[in-house]
Amino acid sequence: MPFQPPLPDEYQRMADPDVLARIAERKAALGRRVVILGHHYQEDDIVRFADFVGDSFKLSRQASQTTAEFIVFCGVHFMAESADILSSPGQQVILPDLSAGCSMAEMADEDDVVDAWETISRVGGEPIVPICYVNSTAAVKAFVGRHGGTACTSSNARRAIAWALGRGENVKLLFIPDQHLGRNTAFEMGYPLESMAVWDPAQRNGGLTDEQIRAARFILWNGYCSVHQIFTVADIDRVRAERPGVQVIVHPECDFAVVQKADQSGSTERIGQVIDAAPPGSAWAVGTEIHLVKRLADRYRGEKHVQSLTGIQCLCTTMYRIDPRHLLWSLDNLAAGRVVNRVTVDEPTKQLAKLALDQMLALPG
Ligand code: 13P
Ligand code: SF4
Repeated sequence: MPFQPPLPDEYQRMADPDVLARIAERKAALGRRVVILGHHYQEDDIVRFADFVGDSFKLSRQASQTTAEFIVFCGVHFMAESADILSSPGQQVILPDLSAGCSMAEMADEDDVVDAWETISRVGGEPIVPICYVNSTAAVKAFVGRHGGTACTSSNARRAIAWALGRGENVKLLFIPDQHLGRNTAFEMGYPLESMAVWDPAQRNGGLTDEQIRAARFILWNGYCSVHQIFTVADIDRVRAERPGVQVIVHPECDFAVVQKADQSGSTERIGQVIDAAPPGSAWAVGTEIHLVKRLADRYRGEKHVQSLTGIQCLCTTMYRIDPRHLLWSLDNLAAGRVVNRVTVDEPTKQLAKLALDQMLALPG
């Protein structure tokens, strides 16, 4: 993950209200030259300045459609890389803090993916279609693009899997890097757990026998989100006991048993939509990052009850690195004619990764 040097003293010393006031000034002065994209997990003092707030899919689409000269991405590194891949020549993508990474994306190293592919192709016999969750590096997306696969997000994983399975008779899917999203989605589509195997890149042959590789329809990378791992079945039992009638909605990055026990699952955008549409008086326990849960709780205070599924602070610490001071520093530099923290993907990688992302944007439905 790139290193982010500390901000100049001036920014450390500023009072919070001054930071917010100056962001507003800079944003107004830059006008349509800049678009600020904010993921649902960003803190409120970032979201208030975002031109678009959304899940990974919605923000990827925005990045592919905006005509702004500068795309300031308030999210994590893989999102900024995807924006650079999808944006047009001449546009520049800025990540206000370069150390805002995603630990799940780091779990699939391109060399390990190549090794897995070679072994599965040699042993498996059938054609393989790779699918990468957008929470992956540009290099992994390029691998997937080169091998005729698609990217996906938590909001279109089902369509991505259906598309990939339709690529030929008996195709095998390699789903990278989130085993939970892969398993939860394939199971929801009617595929039994026995049709899935987990590839562990730390072990010889992925920790699988040749027979297991041949038998699996879905090979799921051994990746996970440390934030969503926090939620447990015991949490669901506890909230249901404490608040009868509460409905549980979780992100599909949660463990299989948690998703099975929850009432619903969906992307960050869908979680928001479901609670927006819920009747007054309803109660919700939400299994996802705390900033989104808190925002929904604040929005509906006194009308609907919204709480986190866990009592533990469930924070994506890397998303949280994008704070108003870093946003201001990025905008100050743009206003002064300097681009700091630009995220770029090299041209050959970009072209191949774009195949996977374009395929995702073109998925039917
Ligand atoms: P969404 O696509 O649902 O916003 O999820 C992104 C993410 O990183 C969740 O942890
Ligand atoms: Fe990555 Fe998990 Fe943070 Fe999402 S919540 S950005 S998957 S570490």
